Amino acid sequence: MMDVDRHLSRAAKAMHASAIRKAGDVGAAAPDVISLAPGYPDPTLFAWGEFRDIAASILSGEDGSVLQYGATRGYRPLLQTLPDLLSHRDIHATSDELIITTGSQQALDLCARVFLDAGDVALVELPAYTGAMTSFWNAQSNLVGVQQDAEGIDLGDLDRVVARERSAGRRIAFVYVVPNFQNPTGLLMSLRRRAALLEWAAAHDVLIVEDDPYGALYFDDVAAAAETRPIKADDSDGRVVYLSSFSKTVAPGLRVAWITAAPALVAKLEIAKQSADLCTSALDQRLVYEIWKRGVLESRLPLLRARYQAKRTVLEQALRQELANLVSWPEPKGGFFLWACFAGIDTDALLRRAVHHGVVFVPGSAFYVEPREADRARLSFSFPADDQIRTAVHRLAAAVRGELEATGSAPPAPAPDSAAPSAGRQPAPSRG
Ligand SMILES: Cc1ncc(COP(=O)(O)O)c(C=O)c1O
Repeated sequence: MMDVDRHLSRAAKAMHASAIRKAGDVGAAAPDVISLAPGYPDPTLFAWGEFRDIAASILSGEDGSVLQYGATRGYRPLLQTLPDLLSHRDIHATSDELIITTGSQQALDLCARVFLDAGDVALVELPAYTGAMTSFWNAQSNLVGVQQDAEGIDLGDLDRVVARERSAGRRIAFVYVVPNFQNPTGLLMSLRRRAALLEWAAAHDVLIVEDDPYGALYFDDVAAAAETRPIKADDSDGRVVYLSSFSKTVAPGLRVAWITAAPALVAKLEIAKQSADLCTSALDQRLVYEIWKRGVLESRLPLLRARYQAKRTVLEQALRQELANLVSWPEPKGGFFLWACFAGIDTDALLRRAVHHGVVFVPGSAFYVEPREADRARLSFSFPADDQIRTAVHRLAAAVRGELEATGSAPPAPAPDSAAPSAGRQPAPSRG
C-alpha cells in the first residue's frame, strides 16, 4: 500500500476536521439516534411549494445562464438586491463592497486565505464556531481565545491577549465574532459592547470579521430586532468584514452567502474565490434571488422566528422537567442553540454514554481553542421535531444519571420546586 502521508503537504498533515461534522456522522450512522448536534434548519420550514414553482420556471430551458458558469462576484441581480436587504440591518453597502460566496463557510475560508499568514494570530471567542476555527487553523495560523461575559467578548481580556501576542512578535490578523445568537452559546452581544469593540479595533488597528447568519432569527419574547444591529452598521472606515448567509433563512442546501467589506478587500477576496470555485452555483443563486424577489423570504421570517422560538421553549421545558438542578443555561434569545452546563459532568464522556441511549450533541470541548469548561455542551433545537426534542432530552437525562452513577458523583439534592430559577435558565453564562 502506498504511503499516503509522504505525498501530503505540511498544511494537509496539520489539517483539523470539524468536530461538529464528526458528531453529525455519529447521528447519521445510527438511524434511531436523535441528534441535537448539527445546526440544521428545520426542513419542514423550507418554502417547498415556492421552490417547486421557481424551479419549474427557471429550468424551462429558456435561459441558458441558469446552468452556466457565472461571474465570480456573483449573479448580478442577486448582488443588486443585497443593498436593500442590508439596509434593513442598517448597513449601507455599494456594489463594489459585495461578493457572493458558496456559503459563509467559504467566506470564512476566503478570509483565512486573504488575511492570515502562517503563524499570524486569529482572535476567537471562548468558545467559538468550530467551522471558523478549522478554516483559520488550516491556514496554519495561531488561534488565540478571548473570554466572553454575558455581554459578549471581554475587552479587558482582548487587551491583555493582544498585548501579550504583540510583545511575542506575532501579527494580529483579525478578531472573529458572532454577535447575534452566537454559535455555540446563543449569546446576543450587547449594543454597548459592539460599539466598544469597534472603537477598540480602531484604536488597535485590528480588523473585525463579523459573522452573522442568525441575526434575522431573534425571539420576540425576549429580544428585539434593534438589538441585533450589526457592528458593520457603525463601521465608517471599512474595518469590519461582514459575513451573512441565506442558509438559516432560505436553505443551506443552496450554498449562497455573501461578504460585505471595503472595496479593496472585496477585490482580494474575489481573486481568492476565483481559485477556490470560479463562481458560486448559478442555479442556487437564481433560486435564492427568486425567493427574495417574490417576497417569500421577507414574508416567512415571522414564521421562522415563531417556530424556532417555540422549539427553544420545548427544549427548555424538557430540560427543566427531566434534568432540573442538573443543568443550567444562558437564555437563547434567537438562533439555533442552547449552551448547556452540566455542572461537574465531563460532556465528552457524557456523549460517549449518550450515543448508547440514542441521543447525540456536541460537547463543549469542540468549541474551545484551549482547554476550558469540560461540562458544557451545545444542544441544537432547530432541526428535530418537538416530540423528538422531548424524547432526546429524556434519553439525555438517562445518560446523565448513568454518568453520575459511573463516576460516583451524587446528583445535587432535588430543588424544592423544579420550576425554580436555580434549575434551568440562567441570565448569563459564567464565561461564554
Ligand atoms: C456562525 C456560523 N458561521 C458560518 C456558518 C456556515 O454557514 P453556511 O451554511 O452559510 O456555510 C455557520 C453554520 O452553522 C455558523 O453557525
